[in-house]
Amino acid sequence: MKGKILVTGGAGYIGSHTTVELQNAGYEVVVLDNLSNSNADVIDGIERITGIRPAFVKMDLQDKDALRNLFETHPGIRGIINFAASKAVGESVQKPLLYYRNNLVTLLNLLDLMPQYGVEALVFSSSCTVYGQPDILPVDETAPVKPALSPYGNTKQICEEIIRDTIHAGAPFQSILLRYFNPVGAHPTAEIGELPLGVPQNLLPYITQTAIGIREQLSVFGDDYDTPDGSCIRDYINVVDLAKAHVIAVDRMLEGKTKENVEMFNLGTGTGVSVLELIRTFEKATGVKVNYKIVGRREGDIAKVWANPARANNELGWVARESLEDTLASAWKWQLRLREKGIM
Ligand code: UD1
Repeated sequence: MKGKILVTGGAGYIGSHTTVELQNAGYEVVVLDNLSNSNADVIDGIERITGIRPAFVKMDLQDKDALRNLFETHPGIRGIINFAASKAVGESVQKPLLYYRNNLVTLLNLLDLMPQYGVEALVFSSSCTVYGQPDILPVDETAPVKPALSPYGNTKQICEEIIRDTIHAGAPFQSILLRYFNPVGAHPTAEIGELPLGVPQNLLPYITQTAIGIREQLSVFGDDYDTPDGSCIRDYINVVDLAKAHVIAVDRMLEGKTKENVEMFNLGTGTGVSVLELIRTFEKATGVKVNYKIVGRREGDIAKVWANPARANNELGWVARESLEDTLASAWKWQLRLREKGIM
């Protein structure tokens, strides 16, 4: 065993895939989740993949006493990966206080208690949303942070600053901030995947739900952007590739390989793909047609963003390996599995 890692939000989409990779790498994982946007069955899925059942604590990370209790009952946690956060951009505009409270208070509680319990390392889930519409593409980590377009985006910026300030003030731990581009796909076993509650806000779950007939038609938000085909461009990164980067980040901190006490890395493929290209690639990878129509732009969307992942490639030795075709096929396999199980 390499040590004990607390994964907050570990029953969620990226958290569950990361738990699997941590276990595969020999870490013992404690999953914390309030199940506000996930399901306890995910723990079974993780166990079916790895053969190891992670400890699971259902609690709200806003409850500091409960967190203290978790540290007492699971002594020896060396690192934390913090996924626990609300992430719907539109909802954050409607309910800003919910977003500020949930995303900030949970982080503050962790930072407060980490020194007391000797936790050495924190990986924080950040987002390329901090760059807004970058002036230079592909965007690297030296690009300026732009004013956030939503309370959700603002919480990512503020959380990054809180971590930096806390460590600058001498907190006895290190942190790696990971700025994700657009995570997509599912575990190749289809035991775990993305499980959006209600109508999906993100593109790929909407595509797979349309392909299987849960949704009638996908709306493509805008074809008049300044891009080759007029639809928005993003950098779609396979969720298992993304999960593996977290393990490398934890190793790096616990093995004393960091160059600074706070480091940040873009996690993307380096390739921009338009919405229309993504639909076509999905159809090619699965042989299933997607019924879609072009509608107006979605408020708050930026035209194009994709990563320069050179720093993560060179410093972490991490690269996005999965092809887009295989990634989209994995999302489809997961959607079919949900149907098989009668979940969706
Ligand atoms: C955004 C944020 C990301 C955040 C995520 C959380 C940016 C660049 N990215 O991702 O940081 O973590 O929200 O949800 O700010 N689309 C359609 N039809 C749909 C759904 C989406 O055409 O039904 C298009 C969007 O216009 C966009 C692309 O698909 O161009 C991807 O959208 P989505 O999956 O929602 O992710 P982002 O908005 O890029």
